[in-house]
Amino acid sequence: MCGIVGYVGGKNTVVTLLDGLKRLEYRGYDSAGIAVVRDSALLCVKEKGKVACLEEKITREWPDWMEMTGCTGIAHTRWATHGAPTHDNAHPHMDGKSRFALVHNGIIENYAPLKKRLQEAGCVFKSETDSEVLVHLIAEFYDGDIFQATASALKKVEGTFGVAVISLEQPDTMIVARRGSPIVIGVGKNENIVASDVAAIVAYTQRVIFMDDDDIALVTKDSIDIRNIDNVPVSREVSSIDWSVDAAEKQGYDHFMLKEIFEQPDAVANSIRGRLDKANVSATLSGMNMNPREMAMINRIVIAACGTSMHAGMTGDYYFEDLAGISTQVEQAAEFRYRNPIIEPNTLIIPISQSGETADTLAAVREATNKGATVSAICNAVGSTIARESGRGVYLHAGPEIGVASTKAFTCQVTVLLLMALKLGRGRRMSREAGQQILDEVEQLPELIRQVLKTADDVRRVAEKYADMQDCFFIGRGYLYPVALEGALKLKEISYIHAEGYHAAELKHGPIALLEERVPIIALANDIPGKDKMIGNIQECKARKSPVIATATIGDTDIDGHADDILWIPQCSKFVAPIVTVVALQLFAYYVAAKRGCEIDQPRNLAKSVTVE
Ligand code: F6R
Repeated sequence: MCGIVGYVGGKNTVVTLLDGLKRLEYRGYDSAGIAVVRDSALLCVKEKGKVACLEEKITREWPDWMEMTGCTGIAHTRWATHGAPTHDNAHPHMDGKSRFALVHNGIIENYAPLKKRLQEAGCVFKSETDSEVLVHLIAEFYDGDIFQATASALKKVEGTFGVAVISLEQPDTMIVARRGSPIVIGVGKNENIVASDVAAIVAYTQRVIFMDDDDIALVTKDSIDIRNIDNVPVSREVSSIDWSVDAAEKQGYDHFMLKEIFEQPDAVANSIRGRLDKANVSATLSGMNMNPREMAMINRIVIAACGTSMHAGMTGDYYFEDLAGISTQVEQAAEFRYRNPIIEPNTLIIPISQSGETADTLAAVREATNKGATVSAICNAVGSTIARESGRGVYLHAGPEIGVASTKAFTCQVTVLLLMALKLGRGRRMSREAGQQILDEVEQLPELIRQVLKTADDVRRVAEKYADMQDCFFIGRGYLYPVALEGALKLKEISYIHAEGYHAAELKHGPIALLEERVPIIALANDIPGKDKMIGNIQECKARKSPVIATATIGDTDIDGHADDILWIPQCSKFVAPIVTVVALQLFAYYVAAKRGCEIDQPRNLAKSVTVE
């Protein structure tokens, strides 16, 4: 989704800002722009399309841009919400006298009445965006203090914002503020860089300040003054980012998605590192910050998440009920706050979010917190809003996930859920023997994933054979049912093939009407409980002439003669099968999309983190 970068310091401002925008490209956007204060002028260039198009336009309009050092500047990638992706709607926006420039992420819900009033007062709007009202408000409130003008403007708006503002009036100063849309300040030496995502910052510094809601910061090259919206100074700690810029680069892979698929043995190893409590045959999850008694009191779990994270949560549902005997419900985070959820004193809410910024999941956290619930989040992005507002939880430590299609986050989320279920189970009726089996398998996970990755060429051959399909179904049962949903989601989002995930038994209740020779079935038929029934389901599909691609356990001969093509999965129990099997489906989706020539890392219409409802 939209990205913000701002810089104040001695480096080449335009180069630094463009570099930051390129590092945010993965988030999805459709136009970009930049503004700098230079020689008593506020200069702005915007362009529809990619950052590369913006760079070309800058080269044309500012021939000396390589010499633009030491200017204060802001830049933005926009993902259209209010108004089409056009030059005029791109950020930065400026006031009528070109004294202030602003970039904004989020949504100003009351922009219509504000715009009407400002127009009546003589402001001329150049865009259809909600954001533009903010810059006119700042200009209206300005009476010599840019901080106060921004605070006064922000007090007038309802909705969410991450903003960065520069001005001719105070050329060495940048103002940033947030409410519900992240802003991070990278703390440098004689320079400071701000962004909506640490990915734009790590190349410059690993020391960052995560702003809180309603914080406003006045940033110069050697000072960062943070106050709340009422002008009261607040102190925010400086955190260290535990990954370097290499982690956010492709390192020889054609796409981030492929790199992240292949990173999964390490990512999962990082998620389990230090968390296997062998002495007690349990898991160490200190971030949950709950004592054994509090854990034992939990009698219901509600998981709230979106998309791939919700599919991980659906696997967690099986774990918590099977291993810990705790009744569990998985909610689409978007529904959570609208359906008056039942939250009792012993209900544990688990929001799951790779980015930690998904608007609907965050809203679920807030609803649950307001209702007094215990919230323990599973997030990847350290310092993200969901992680901080939940107050407790478990980080994935999977490293940055740049590919829009989530891969390593899913496998790590499911791994962490399994560890949570082990811990909760061991605090209840789970025997040491049963716990030991889980521990052993979790320890094996990186190697099991490695074995699937070794079959990548075989998966590619199968994928290329089916790359022309228009429609397909993924079917699974039990522990592999959420994996079927996830496999279908992966395929549709990057290849644009119409793919649906179904419980295998549900096919007969409607979708079977669509089966014919042009509609392949991807059937998850590993040798775990439910396999026999799955083979029956495969026969039903074959009888309707659908080609069948099956996942099957290496050495299992029961699948012989049933499937047209097989993706082989190493022998493993039902508990880890979802994590291992999904890797083959990620590869399958990747190679289908690659064969079709799709833009894999930035699929059309998609954004990496969905910060609007
Ligand atoms: C699919 C995908 C999305 C996200 C969803 C939630 O590949 O990435 O479905 O899983 O938008 O995002 P997070 O986990 O950041 O809350």
